[in-house]
Amino acid sequence: MFIKSLELKNYRNYEQLSMNFAGGTNLLYGDNAQGKTNIVEAIYLAATTKSHRGSKDREIIQFHHDEAHIRIHYEKQDIMHQLDMHLKKNRVKGVAIDRIPIRKSSDLLGQIPVIFFSPEDLKIIKNGPSERRKFLDIELSQLERLYLYHLTKYNKILMQRNNLLKQLKFQPNLVDTLEFWDLQLVKYGSEVIRYRRKFIDHLNMIIKQIHRKLTGNREEIQLEYENNVEYDIFLTELNKKRSIDLKYTTTSIGPHRDDISFIVNGIDIRKFGSQGQQRTAALSLKLSQIQLVKEVLHDTPVLLLDDVLSELDSNRKIYLLESIKDTQTFITCTGLDEFISQHLPVQRMFQIKEGKIIKQN
Ligand SMILES: Nc1ncnc2c1ncn2[C@@H]1O[C@H](COP(=O)(O)OP(=O)(O)OP(=O)(O)O)[C@@H](O)[C@H]1O
Ligand SMILES: [Mg+2]
Repeated sequence: MFIKSLELKNYRNYEQLSMNFAGGTNLLYGDNAQGKTNIVEAIYLAATTKSHRGSKDREIIQFHHDEAHIRIHYEKQDIMHQLDMHLKKNRVKGVAIDRIPIRKSSDLLGQIPVIFFSPEDLKIIKNGPSERRKFLDIELSQLERLYLYHLTKYNKILMQRNNLLKQLKFQPNLVDTLEFWDLQLVKYGSEVIRYRRKFIDHLNMIIKQIHRKLTGNREEIQLEYENNVEYDIFLTELNKKRSIDLKYTTTSIGPHRDDISFIVNGIDIRKFGSQGQQRTAALSLKLSQIQLVKEVLHDTPVLLLDDVLSELDSNRKIYLLESIKDTQTFITCTGLDEFISQHLPVQRMFQIKEGKIIKQN
């Protein structure tokens, strides 16, 4: 699939914007704070309903305005589609595909599969487990419609169970209701665990080869799903930990405590990897996602590279650009120097200044 055009209205520092893109590499360049990231954010938001920066809708709407609009024309299996997103200050956003409103975000996810890559993502291996769970959740939600359903239910029940644990301090007679929440937690939590295991198994089949190539056969990578609990003993473990949970008024067992380990040549690089090793593994992970989308959704994703090229050495940069040849890509950067000096292939270039395109080739 590919994105043909983007229109913005009262979106961050864009009062009005209209852009037509190429199917290959689209370069957005300009000085700091001119609006480059805002464009890739709009694409990400339209595709996933969320800002990659975690911004709220009302922060995205242009100052002193009440609404913002995003319109994307995209081609999928030779058919053109139109996606409209309408952000409102104090209400939920409206989304429509081909002018038909969409009610659940799960109906949107996967329509325009996107992969976002920023310097922050290079730290996924060094950062704490919550970043890696976030990665699992975002990627899986795009690939598997039902995952988001189970995860949302799980998180809601987890919150209700935790609230009840707090309430029990004052109303101990409610303790019998805990069992109901335990059963619900296990029901949805087991699905979350099942999907995550399948995803990591699939990822492992893809990442090994990519990582070998990226490291010139010097490194063997293996991802391991460190699930906090197996689904078949989830309920038993929950019962065992009940007194601890009551004491600390929080749920100590479940997939909300999961992690993934990255084993390179037998070593856990979360703790013992060099910075370069951690960054290379993060790059392998991103490149694997492209392949994963192709295999699971039978579609090519759109790749958004925000300020990431300047963070990679020239070998990795060349490898990255080589691997994404048949993928529509949006790259942001401040200058064109390295593209010109290294003859990197670019189909379309946009120079951005103060929320306007001032030059395009
Ligand atoms: N709701 C908003 N309304 C108007 N302007 C906004 C809003 N939110 C952010 N901005 C402006 O958008 C600009 C930042 O844009 P953006 O993050 O896209 O910059 P950038 O070109 O990616 O810069 P850098 O190279 O530093 O990453 C800032 O000038 C900021 O003040
Ligand atoms: Mg930026």
